[in-house]
Amino acid sequence: MSGLAIETRGLVKVFGKTRAVDGIDLAVPAGAVYGVLGPNGAGKTTAVRMLATLLRPDGGDARVFGHDVLREPDEVRRKVSLTGQYASVDEDLTGAENLILLARLLGHHKRAARRRAEQLLEAFGLTEAAGKQVKNYSGGMRRRIDIAASILNTPKLLFLDEPTTGLDPRSRNQVWDIVRAVVSHGTTVLLTTQYLDEADRLASRIAVIDMGRVIAEGTPGELKSSVGAGAVHVRLRDPEQRTEAEWLLTRTLGGQVVREPDPVALTARVSADGDGSSDRRTAEQAAAALTALAEAGITVDDFSLGQPSLDEVFLALTDRTAREAETTVDKEATA
Ligand SMILES: Nc1ncnc2c1ncn2[C@@H]1O[C@H](COP(=O)(O)OP(=O)(O)OP(=O)(O)O)[C@@H](O)[C@H]1O
Ligand SMILES: [Mg+2]
Repeated sequence: MSGLAIETRGLVKVFGKTRAVDGIDLAVPAGAVYGVLGPNGAGKTTAVRMLATLLRPDGGDARVFGHDVLREPDEVRRKVSLTGQYASVDEDLTGAENLILLARLLGHHKRAARRRAEQLLEAFGLTEAAGKQVKNYSGGMRRRIDIAASILNTPKLLFLDEPTTGLDPRSRNQVWDIVRAVVSHGTTVLLTTQYLDEADRLASRIAVIDMGRVIAEGTPGELKSSVGAGAVHVRLRDPEQRTEAEWLLTRTLGGQVVREPDPVALTARVSADGDGSSDRRTAEQAAAALTALAEAGITVDDFSLGQPSLDEVFLALTDRTAREAETTVDKEATA
């Protein structure tokens, strides 16, 4: 076997005129969190539903642990679990009743079902709420009971479709801890999210999707360096020295230097080389720049080195696709 939990090639799903998933290639390694990051309507849920055999692809192919989703759906279903709005938690039952019932449906004997339910309620911080009807749960509790229900039997692959959308920071943190715990027990997690920080924290690799296509893929570090650049922010003691400082920064950093509205401030982009070692290179270049300023007798009052955030990466990538789409339209219009 390939060591891949998911492998897709040219996966397509069309709804009327909408190409919801428009030729997606994915290679998701087993044993980690894989993030699928994209804005509303990017095609995340559609892709997940095809992989979980809930929706039939219109083109391409997809394998889950080597099993084709179309030809071997039962094999796939035996290995996956999906948490989303489709979880089969009954609002009128209590948290404990839900988990026991589902465990019984999965074939656990009465005592084993009760034990597993208790274990999960405890692990998910729901022991006190165990006797409350799920309809009275808060959003965060509801999300946790949904995830608990989907891991009654430890799945090899768990799909979490936007598990933290709409949760407050504390509840998001609780869900993140659960995700980490699930992965530490050997389950592969495919997590869709609109939150860059979430993908950054949890995922070992990320596919950024937009308009049904993968527009970038890699580790969080690779994605950051692919967009290039950290930024060096400098504040000088003397505004008179700004022109000289600007020149020195341009020379040592080789990137664009921007004059901030504040007459003593400069921001320099550090050009990254995209090979993943850029964090260190950025730091080295920044140190060289500071030395050059000091040698020229320029006093620096404040200095900071910022890594590009995944937000910047995301904006740069989606902006780029938008521009490319416009260019294509332009070409088509003039052809
Ligand atoms: N059953 C359906 N019938 C028609 N169009 C659909 C259907 N499901 C999804 N779409 C369309 O396909 C596109 C992708 O939707 P999808 O739900 O996969 O996006 P998403 O990335 O999950 O978005 P969100 O972050 O809002 O959940 C959207 O344009 C959506 O309107
Ligand atoms: Mg969705």
